[in-house]
Amino acid sequence: MPPTAHATPPEDSLILIFGASGDLTKRKLIPALFELWKNGQAPENFAILGVSRSRYTDDEYRDACGNFDGNDLASDPRWAEFRDLVHYEASDATAAEGWPSIKQRIRTLSEAHRTGQNLLFYLSLAPQFFEPVIVNIGNNGLVTEGKKYCTIDTQRPPWQRIVIEKPFGSDPGSAAHLNRVLAQVFDEDAIYRIDHYLGKELVQNLMVLRFANSLFEPIWNHRYIDHVQITASETVGVEGRGAYYDSPSGGAMRDMVQSHLLQVASIVAMEPPITLDAEDVRTEKVKVFKALRVPRAEDVPEIAVRGQYGEGSVKGERYPAYRSEEGTDPGSQTDTFAAVKFHVDTWRWGNTPFYLRSGKAMAQKKTEIVIYLKPTPHALFREQAMRARPNQIVISVQPNPGIRLRFEGKKPGIGLNIKDVVMDFDYEESWRASPPDGYASLLFDCLRGDQTNYKHRDEIQSSWNACQPILDYWDENPAEDLPNYNAGTWGPSAADVMMAKDGRYWRND
Ligand SMILES: NC(=O)c1ccc[n+]([C@@H]2O[C@H](COP(=O)([O-])OP(=O)(O)OC[C@H]3O[C@@H](n4cnc5c(N)ncnc54)[C@H](OP(=O)(O)O)[C@@H]3O)[C@@H](O)[C@H]2O)c1
Repeated sequence: MPPTAHATPPEDSLILIFGASGDLTKRKLIPALFELWKNGQAPENFAILGVSRSRYTDDEYRDACGNFDGNDLASDPRWAEFRDLVHYEASDATAAEGWPSIKQRIRTLSEAHRTGQNLLFYLSLAPQFFEPVIVNIGNNGLVTEGKKYCTIDTQRPPWQRIVIEKPFGSDPGSAAHLNRVLAQVFDEDAIYRIDHYLGKELVQNLMVLRFANSLFEPIWNHRYIDHVQITASETVGVEGRGAYYDSPSGGAMRDMVQSHLLQVASIVAMEPPITLDAEDVRTEKVKVFKALRVPRAEDVPEIAVRGQYGEGSVKGERYPAYRSEEGTDPGSQTDTFAAVKFHVDTWRWGNTPFYLRSGKAMAQKKTEIVIYLKPTPHALFREQAMRARPNQIVISVQPNPGIRLRFEGKKPGIGLNIKDVVMDFDYEESWRASPPDGYASLLFDCLRGDQTNYKHRDEIQSSWNACQPILDYWDENPAEDLPNYNAGTWGPSAADVMMAKDGRYWRND
């Protein structure tokens, strides 16, 4: 077993995945657990019990996971050994009648695999099923031992943890309700609200970039940073998920900005934590969320732009309009693009905007964070000033993961001509490896009881509070110009106008 860089090893446990027949489980969760197991990063004793209504025997389910959508886990020589750790129970987890058989399987498998009483519940379900499943876990008495104040073994108390997928609510009220439902069954330190962006290597690298180097932190504030841009764009549209995306919990603002992008922004904006303990890190992130300026209704047209793609062409192929995708309403107001200017009202960030945007069917697939620095206080190279671009620190999450520093250099030859040059830390070239999948790293953390890269309830509540006025304004003022961008472009021109009014522009290279 290779050594891990972590003090706490993952602990023996039975992992219950609700929504086992679904896309996320087969495409991400089982491959991530297989990866951990192959790398010696799984608990010594562990097993997986998948639960959903579809009828599978254990063997049929193992086959379904091993060959899902071309993932080809089954051709890995070690799959044959791993697959015996995977089990399946066909049951409706939202109905009380389904639970006696689930409990019986938990007892049998915990004993057979010597996993003790530790249980990890993973809710990979549509959000309307979160509450009934949490209530059933509670009603079946599966969490009593995990409550830290009533345990018998105080040295190594058994635990029961829950991982809950997105979307976490669809507005502040529903998020608060879900938090209350969770708190009736689990302690806060057993609740893991997952955001797979927090598992991405380059996002985790942000903390290292900022706090392990003396180069960046001194300039990481309003004095030197002009503004921050965070972009997550996709070239694909809704791809058969129109019905979900067009529902009240869909749209780019809810699906991406409120969750993933604000999470990334909080790591850019946070103060250095006292230690790397989950509590200290999350305390600093919570402060950022609490400092997010809540927009007034009258500010919304100035700080937020919504878009929806019309027909266009992506990578040379015709792409249909959102409204003609299966499952969408022909008059849909759903935002497939959202761009928002946020402010973090703290001493560090006074008057430094954070521009966040996300869209589907756009010109490029990329996720990046760009820190734009202010111009020098004196334009010494006045003659060349027209050509000088602001210094940029570009953190590319994908594609070409890495960190790039753009600054001005002298062009070779006689005369003083300026050109921007790039200092490039290319992740794959430097480490001779692709970044591991975020789910493996997040599952590993959860098995070790490390909540650092999971969201605290207060983060979620504050991010909803900052986004809801925008969503309300959009609801109350339907857009007459939708669709307002062609598939395969960088989104509606209004997003460029919003930037131009501030004398800025989006980085579209
Ligand atoms: N797919 C992704 O890439 C992705 C990425 C990020 C987050 N997520 C989140 O992950 C969750 C799952 O997404 P998904 O794409 O995997 O959805 P999905 O493919 O529709 O799968 C949903 C699963 O829920 C099961 N299910 C439905 N009703 C159930 C019940 N009453 N009892 C037990 N199981 C039940 C379904 O199986 P049966 O019909 O067999 O019961 C199926 O296994 C969602 O919250 C989604 O937002 C997904």
